[in-house]
Amino acid sequence: MKNEQFLIIGGTGKTGRKVVESLTQLGQSVRIGSRSAAIPFDWDQPTTWEAALEGIDKVYITFQPDLAVPGAFEAIETLVAIAKRKGVKKLVLLSGKGETEAERCEQVVINSGLDYTIVRASWFNQNFSESFFLEPIQQGTVALPMPEARVPYLDTGDIADVVVEALLHDEHNGEIYELTGPELLTFKDVIEIISEASGRDINYFPVSLEAYLDVMKQQDVPASYIWLIEYLFTHVLVNPTNSVVTNDVEKVLKRPAKSFRSYAKETAATGVWNAPKEMTH
Ligand SMILES: NC(=O)c1ccc[n+]([C@@H]2O[C@H](COP(=O)([O-])OP(=O)(O)OC[C@H]3O[C@@H](n4cnc5c(N)ncnc54)[C@H](OP(=O)(O)O)[C@@H]3O)[C@@H](O)[C@H]2O)c1
Repeated sequence: MKNEQFLIIGGTGKTGRKVVESLTQLGQSVRIGSRSAAIPFDWDQPTTWEAALEGIDKVYITFQPDLAVPGAFEAIETLVAIAKRKGVKKLVLLSGKGETEAERCEQVVINSGLDYTIVRASWFNQNFSESFFLEPIQQGTVALPMPEARVPYLDTGDIADVVVEALLHDEHNGEIYELTGPELLTFKDVIEIISEASGRDINYFPVSLEAYLDVMKQQDVPASYIWLIEYLFTHVLVNPTNSVVTNDVEKVLKRPAKSFRSYAKETAATGVWNAPKEMTH
């Protein structure tokens, strides 16, 4: 394979880290795009984007914090324009399933004139082990709104494998992949599976969205983060197109998507869901 240069934006994050690992194992030349990288890339500092894109052939774009937030569209427009000017040939964009605002950003990539693949993902398994749902699980009580929502949780390992395929092979050019896991699960289902896998008694109880957001406000969570959580619950979780299982993971990888149970078993073995030390004494 010819020697290409890859920029993986968010290359130490939930999906990017795994993309970097796989490409590196395949002997590819990879640059991490993040605020702490050797050549820093910061979504809040557009002046950092030129240097990060210098000499790059293909880019995996994971936007922070989410393509739905105000300003994301303009940021993607600017990034794509710079990428084009710098001679980038292909873009792979991580997008969110059922997010209208994210689809506007997808259009910027689709209409860029560059080769592209759009990877539209449903909610990640790893939200329960590397993100906002981890702490309540460790504490043993998970209070979340929308107990009726059924989500086809998706593993970040599967996303990364699809992204690597898309970056390396032209047959994925022009495709929009809608990635989901293999089954629909409610929050109650998820917490039961995690309880069983970790051998702990973790409780789930439903709360109203208002009560959930109020707790965050009392804890001085930044307003932009609360806005995003509200958006995800009121636009993404309620969107009926999100309660659908697709077979795009299998179509691309020629193997089934990882189940939440397999993820839970592997994750429990790392100890991340153990009770905090002060609770075990
Ligand atoms: N979570 C879900 O269920 C879900 C579902 C569908 C789509 N998505 C999309 O996934 C994307 C996030 O991808 P991910 O989960 O793989 O990444 P992630 O784990 O959220 O991101 C962490 C990475 O981003 C870097 N980063 C953080 N803030 C940055 C900034 N201001 N500028 C540049 N880099 C920054 C971090 O490195 P440094 O700290 O060193 O900068 C790290 O490499 C979002 O666009 C989200 O919409 C998420």
